[in-house]
Amino acid sequence: MPDLLAKLESGHPAAARLLSPLGRRAALVLGVPQQAAEAARCERQASIGQITAGDGQPLTLPALAGRFVGLDPKQAFLYAPTAGLLPLRTAWRERLGSAPATLPVVTNGMSHGLSLVADLFASPEHPLLLATPYWDNYDTIWHMRAGAEMRTFPLFNEARGLDIEAMGARLAELRGPASLLLNFPNNPTGYSPTAAEADAIAACIHAHPHPLAVVCDDAYAGYYFDDSCYGSSLYTKLAVGADPERLLVCKVDGASKELLFFGGRVGFLTFSATGAAGDVLVEKASAILRGTISSVSAPAQSVVLAALREPNLAGQQDEVRGVLKRRYEALRTALAAAKVPALPFNSGCFALLPLGPEHDAQTVRRRLIEEQSTGVIAVTSENALRVAFCSIDEGDIPDLVERIARVVQN
Ligand SMILES: Cc1ncc(COP(=O)(O)O)c(C=O)c1O
Repeated sequence: MPDLLAKLESGHPAAARLLSPLGRRAALVLGVPQQAAEAARCERQASIGQITAGDGQPLTLPALAGRFVGLDPKQAFLYAPTAGLLPLRTAWRERLGSAPATLPVVTNGMSHGLSLVADLFASPEHPLLLATPYWDNYDTIWHMRAGAEMRTFPLFNEARGLDIEAMGARLAELRGPASLLLNFPNNPTGYSPTAAEADAIAACIHAHPHPLAVVCDDAYAGYYFDDSCYGSSLYTKLAVGADPERLLVCKVDGASKELLFFGGRVGFLTFSATGAAGDVLVEKASAILRGTISSVSAPAQSVVLAALREPNLAGQQDEVRGVLKRRYEALRTALAAAKVPALPFNSGCFALLPLGPEHDAQTVRRRLIEEQSTGVIAVTSENALRVAFCSIDEGDIPDLVERIARVVQN
């Protein structure tokens, strides 16, 4: 373990200083998965406790095997390695091109990827900076589990652009290691930066003098509906030229939204550190993963790998993007017609509708259920309603907005 820390200190000093107490301790031992991996090519396979046919092939029950038609039985039925199926990790890594990046660790969905980042870098001494409003699970992950202080700044300024000055002011208060969360397309607002805003965010982060772990939560990557959007993750912009003395970028993304595989629970965690330091971070994340879930579902990983190899995948994703874009446009039109205000939105799955002081978001939400048979989410920090246009048929969107207007305009 001291060896791991020494490698990190020399290869990526910022990452070494960012580690939480758990992150410092985390290391893979020469346990069962590692010993079994070393023995993988042996003629007699008596290492890992998997019930097999004896020749390396899985011994399957027909009741299950018949459900996995088209998948390699070895990949679908045997344990996946702790960090995930190597061909899947390699295929996902290829999407980042030449950006500095480790091989991703496969996580049990993106929530788990985020919790690994918090396990590694958050603690009562290492706060999390993030914009409000934010997805409520960040509280559970960083505050409840890791005990980190949540230091917020407003997402939007008065001109209805990103409040990068407020982010800079929060960063300027820091004197030591911290994490900064960036979530675009954003949940709950549905906003993504413009190209100019993306540049300004990167300039602000690159100038920060203390160790900083930037977490790009790219759950909704790819869903950009307006030409003004920067139109890709901030990861590459931040990772290219990141000074390892000061900045580590962590990317959390996955199949849940990008491949519409919500229940599959396949996410990815990638670090901007390279070489031996990158290997150390992958090992530390894998060690925590082994101590919690052991490894991610092999059949789910196999399905995602098969999808990535499907020549037609991009075309299929474009079709879904087209459907969502039409819903997005229908929502904009319907909100304008009904004079229901929304915070800026140009991407993702959501729009956030602020309510006047005469309304309470939870009361309005319950009235919408009872009086209009309409489900939305109350975002109480903003006294606003989050509308998931991603789950409403385009033709039903005017009706949805009318139902909301009936309650909020009375
Ligand atoms: C911003 C954001 N990040 C992460 C996630 C978690 O995704 P997963 O379902 O893969 O855990 C969600 C899910 O709603 C989300 O909205």
